[in-house]
Formats: sequence, structure tokens, C-alpha cells
Amino acid sequence: MSKLIFVLNGPNLNLLGTREPGIYGILKLDDIAIKLSRLAKGFGREIDFRQSNSEGDLVDWIHEAGEKKADIILNAGAYTHTSIALMDALLAVDCNCIEVHLSNIFKRESFRHNSFISRASTGIISGFGAKSYELALLALADQTS
Ligand code: DQA
Repeated sequence: MSKLIFVLNGPNLNLLGTREPGIYGILKLDDIAIKLSRLAKGFGREIDFRQSNSEGDLVDWIHEAGEKKADIILNAGAYTHTSIALMDALLAVDCNCIEVHLSNIFKRESFRHNSFISRASTGIISGFGAKSYELALLALADQTS
């Protein structure tokens, strides 16, 4: 059976499309979800796409991914730079996590250069807009068990 992929999105990503389009692009989160779901099907993978502005929801969803032995694609938004709770949750589960960002966080303000998520992730894809999610999916594509 192919592994489920949880695609988890953090705070303010529900505003994609209108939020600072010069930085984050004009696609809405729903557009990204649809694209990604199609692409995943092509790889024989299923995705569960979610967004929350609450840190606790994201922690709970990481635990759920652990129970379901799912892979994780995570854009934690600003929690990337602040959340030891999310890092600990990722370290507590046995999941392959790919960290994604639409923008290149290393090209931006210095407070965005630290990622607690990176410390608990297999890899990071940052700076390719909505394509960052697709590249993360490619990274997981051939891992079926
Ligand atoms: C982001 C980068 C973060 O620094 C920022 O707080 C976000 C979005 C990105 O996708 O580029 O909310 O994760």
C-alpha cells in the first residue's frame, strides 16, 4: 500500500493569492492543493492537504501523521522560525518530513534564516513559489514503503 502524504500549512497561508503576491505569488492555497493532488496521483500517492493558523493543530496533525506512518510536506509559515513545539513533534514521530517555503527564506530578513523545522526534516525546498511543493513531492515520489 502506498504511503499517505500529509501536506501541512501553517499561519497566514490561507491568504495566499492576496497576501504579499510579490513574495508569495498569486496562486491560492486551494490551487496548490489541486495541482499537488493531481501530481501525487500520477506517482500513485495520496495526499491529505491541510492548513491551520494554530500551532497546536499542526502539532496534533504531525502526531496523526506519525500514527498513520505518513510522509509530511510542511510549510510551517512563521512558526518555522519560532516553534520548538513543532520541531519536537517532528522529532517524536518516525516520519520523513520535507520542509517547504514559497519564498527563499535565506534571501530575506535575518530572523527568517533560522528554521527549527530544518533540524527535524530530511530536506528543505525554499524559493520556488508554488513549485516548492511539487519539488517536495518529487523528493518523496519514489518512496512507497
Ligand atoms: C514562508 C516563509 C516564512 O518566513 C513566512 O513567515 C511565511 C511563509 C514561505 O512559504 O515562504 O508565512 O514559510
